[in-house]
Amino acid sequence: MPIYGALMRYIPRQLAFLEYEPLVQAAKTLNPEALSANAVGANYYGAGTVAGLVQKAFRRQAPHFDKHPALSTDVLNWTKSVLPVKSDSLVLDCGAGTGAVSRILAPHVKHVVATDISRHMIAIGEEKNTNEKIANITYERAENDALPFLDNSFDVVFSRLNVHHQKDPRTFLKELVRVVKPGGVVGIIDQIRPSTLSARIAARMNYLESLRDISHQNFYSGNELAQLLRDAGVEVSQANHTGVGAGLTAVIEAQESLENWISRAEPNPLNIKILSASIEGNAEYGTDYDQETGFQASFAGEEAQVKHIYGAVVGTKRS
Ligand SMILES: C[S@@+](CC[C@H](N)C(=O)[O-])C[C@H]1O[C@@H](n2cnc3c(N)ncnc32)[C@H](O)[C@@H]1O
Repeated sequence: MPIYGALMRYIPRQLAFLEYEPLVQAAKTLNPEALSANAVGANYYGAGTVAGLVQKAFRRQAPHFDKHPALSTDVLNWTKSVLPVKSDSLVLDCGAGTGAVSRILAPHVKHVVATDISRHMIAIGEEKNTNEKIANITYERAENDALPFLDNSFDVVFSRLNVHHQKDPRTFLKELVRVVKPGGVVGIIDQIRPSTLSARIAARMNYLESLRDISHQNFYSGNELAQLLRDAGVEVSQANHTGVGAGLTAVIEAQESLENWISRAEPNPLNIKILSASIEGNAEYGTDYDQETGFQASFAGEEAQVKHIYGAVVGTKRS
């Protein structure tokens, strides 16, 4: 009786939705400032803003986003393992993109609210909600710096691969921490700059990433991320990694081909040439002849590869 089986799966999901939707709506009761900031056409989305660049960048990246190395099973499972969620947690995934992390957490929590500024990224997340019949993820279009939620709304808030896009990470993190309950969990997961890089190579790494992704702002080291979180009012107890990931709670590395890395972001042809020459030079000569890029380039056969270091800092909001 396949229809009976499908109904038996569908009905509890709908009941769960009815139960948790009011909770989400309550959390979402808009604060007037965020409401005006989030109105479509308002400054946050307009020309001349970083948020405008982000939307342009992710309109391009949305169709290719499943190829992102951070969406591999290994990196998603690692992300889940660093976020201490409970079955009754109301969770905010801020800058959720297509919702890959929301989906891996959803079976283990009460409800996930997934916010993002990019309509194109959210559309893919919503389509996956429908196809996979997921009832406990709600998408909201919102700017990270002005979240449309009341203070102290969530049990767990986190943001993955977002801090490096922010013009002002302090404003963003203050806003993220505002909406979690005192004692609630705050997690920041981002691509980090190896803390062993000199300032000159760190600048080069940022420059190359900006050629690839027009919305890139800055890669932080593990220690910088941990300090940003502490400054935003978070008790970070386990940030004890050393070496490239110094200051982080947890670290994972992921490799991808130069071709995949570049094509995901669709940069212009001149930028593609500079990126390819730089990464291939780094793969061939390592750090000799001033070829270091920060992306730990290597060759797998004929194909050049880049390596990304993803770092997590996790703590709790100070009461
Ligand atoms: C690299 S993707 C990561 C998506 C998701 N967090 C993940 O890990 O799969 C970055 C996402 O952050 C969003 N984003 C960046 N800056 C933002 C901002 N200021 N407000 C809202 N969303 C933002 C982008 O639209 C994009 O979907």
